[in-house]
This record gives sequence, structure tokens and C-alpha cells, in this order.
Amino acid sequence: MTVLVTGAFGLVGSATVKQLAAEGRRVVATDLDIPGNREAAGKLPPGVQVRYADLTDPAAVDALIGSVAPEAVIHLAAVIPPLIYTRRGLARKVNVDATAHLLAAAAKQPTPPRFVQASSIAVYGARNPHKIPDLLTAETPPNPSDLYGAHKLASEQLVRAAELDWVILRLGGVMTVEVAGLMNFDNLYFEGLLPTDNRLNTVDVRDVARAFAAATTAPVLGETLLIGGDESHRLRQGDVGSAVAAAMGFVGGLPIGLKGDPASDTNWFATDWMDSTRSQEALGFQHTSWPDLLIETADRTGWKRPLLRAAAPLARIFLERRAPYHRAAGPYADPWGAIAAKWGDPSPEDA
Ligand SMILES: NC(=O)c1ccc[n+]([C@@H]2O[C@H](COP(=O)([O-])OP(=O)(O)OC[C@H]3O[C@@H](n4cnc5c(N)ncnc54)[C@H](O)[C@@H]3O)[C@@H](O)[C@H]2O)c1
Repeated sequence: MTVLVTGAFGLVGSATVKQLAAEGRRVVATDLDIPGNREAAGKLPPGVQVRYADLTDPAAVDALIGSVAPEAVIHLAAVIPPLIYTRRGLARKVNVDATAHLLAAAAKQPTPPRFVQASSIAVYGARNPHKIPDLLTAETPPNPSDLYGAHKLASEQLVRAAELDWVILRLGGVMTVEVAGLMNFDNLYFEGLLPTDNRLNTVDVRDVARAFAAATTAPVLGETLLIGGDESHRLRQGDVGSAVAAAMGFVGGLPIGLKGDPASDTNWFATDWMDSTRSQEALGFQHTSWPDLLIETADRTGWKRPLLRAAAPLARIFLERRAPYHRAAGPYADPWGAIAAKWGDPSPEDA
């Protein structure tokens, strides 16, 4: 059985391709034809085929699906935060229109593939932890606060309406132990603007990959499943970055952000804790606890840990001056305002 993975060189895609290959599945990896992906293609597990395609081009999508004739498609390609807020038009083409092209091409195959769609808990929108006590479930009504949640919901609706077998996985905050590659100023700035007491359900990317691989064969057709780590992954936003930094030796190196406004229904980011009972029962993907993830992060940082520890105090002074709420007027975080100021309008209007 051939599985076609879109967005195959992204964070989740790379892990998913590896997982499928390790399970002995035939994999075709597709992504944009850009130099970084060409380089990554050289490091793929043996036997994985690569087909470059821009999924915003319906003819390229038709040709891809026609020639691969997959039995399952894992659709991961997307433009995600924060870039989505700067490239709103492109993001819609990739996140929504390209999903429609893929579904149309897949549905007209003689034997349409199972379509496994990557969605996000961003579909639920902002959730004030002071007012909303319950865990997210597949039945919690979606209510997107931003363009990303709106795009993800729009693409889910396309999937549900398509004439083929489908599964939707709504992911929480995906983490990797290869964190060094993600340590850039934009990512730190983005994390720094989120309310420190926002609830966030993290999940190791390798467990996400297990979930996607399992969803191509498990008896879960027509289900929407929430993909988060076990209960040890129910964290507060402000604790995530500092714990990962500390695991790398960068103890106290990150500035502390602001809490969310307890009185506001909107000034919270679109993340929360989830009930993953059903998804774990159906897909058996949760292998990595939060403490295990931190220990492995520390191990992988290895000899660089003392250097990062030594650099942390000065780095903190530098990062504090550039932090989203440096000299902020109010006591509370304003995540959507800070996103608008740095990257562009996050509102869901045109989705
Ligand atoms: N990372 C997270 O925390 C998270 C959380 C919830 C949901 N998700 C979802 O999981 C999926 C994968 O996320 P990720 O973190 O791996 O993202 P990523 O940005 O690392 O990967 C996305 C990939 O899509 C590719 N892509 C973009 N435009 C394309 C186009 N026009 N044609 C073909 N390929 C294109 C990119 O080149 C990239 O490799 C996305 O659908 C995302 O919305 C991710």
C-alpha cells in the first residue's frame, strides 16, 4: 500500500515519512521543489520516493495523484503561524484551495484513497482558562479566533464533504527533541507573546507521526481525533519554553512573558488541554511523556549545555529588550495585538 505524504519535509512530515518507512510501508513524499527540500531528500530513509509538486497548482495535483495512485494520503502541507498572518492570500491557497484540489483529484481515482487530514485545535479558538474548565473533545464546538483556525476548519469541511474515506486529526502543540533547529528569533518572539498561563497540550512529533501512520489503516473512518500527549503534556505556555531551554542548559535564558487577562474572552491564544482517550484507544500513539522529552532534549544538547548555561544571563538581557511586551503599558498579554504588530492581521474574516 502506497502512502502519499504532503508537506513531507516539514516538521510533522519528516517524522511521518520516517515512521511509515520504519513500518515497512511504501511512501511517496511530496513537497515544494526548493533547495532545502532537495537537500533533505538526500537524507530520507532508503526506498522513500520523492515527487515535487506545488499543491496550489490543480494540474500538478492531478498528475501527482494520478501517477502515485496512493491507497492513503496524509495531507500535512500548510502555511502555519506566524507566516500565515503575513501571507494571508498565499496561506488560503495552500491551506484551503490546495486541500480542495487534492480531494477532487483523489475522489476521481478508480479506487479513491483514504484521506487523513492534518487539522489543529486552533479550530476551537481562544479559551480563557479562568472561565472554561473543561477539556477539549471532538464534540467541543469549533469557534476559530484567527485565520489559522478558520483555514483549518474550512479544510475540515471540505474533507467531510468529499466522496472518499477520511479521518481528521486535530493536533496540539507539536514538540521535537531536535529543538536546536527551531531556536530562532521569530519562534522565541512568537512564544514570548502568548499568555504565560494559557493552557497548552504538547505532543512529541514522533508520536504525532505514529498517529498519522496508524490513521491510514485503523478503523477510524469518519472520525475526528484529538492528538495530544498524555496527561504529563498538559502544560502552561510559559512553562514550556523555559523547561525546554533549561533542559538544553539555557537556564533562565528566556524572558518571562505576561499572563492572560482573566476578564477577557478573546485575549487568549487558541490552545488548550484535550481529552485524548479515544484517539489513544484507536491509534495507540502516545509513547513519549513530557519528562522523557525533556531528558532526551538534554541528552541531545550534550557538550553544548555548559556553553548555553554560561551564555544564558547575557542572552536574557538581550532577549528581554526585544521581548513582545518590553515596556508594555498593560499588565496582561495581548497576543492578537502583538501578532498584528509584528506579522500582520490575524483575524479570520476572509477565511
Ligand atoms: N506544528 C504544530 O504544532 C501543528 C499543530 C497543529 C496542527 N499542525 C498541522 O500539521 C501540519 C504539518 O505542520 P508542520 O508543523 O509540519 O508544518 P511545516 O511548516 O513544518 O510543514 C509544512 C510543509 O508544507 C509545505 N508546503 C507549503 N506550501 C506548499 C505548497 N504550495 N505545495 C506543497 N507543499 C507546500 C512546506 O514546504 C512544508 O514542508 C499542518 O497542516 C499544520 O497545520 C501543526
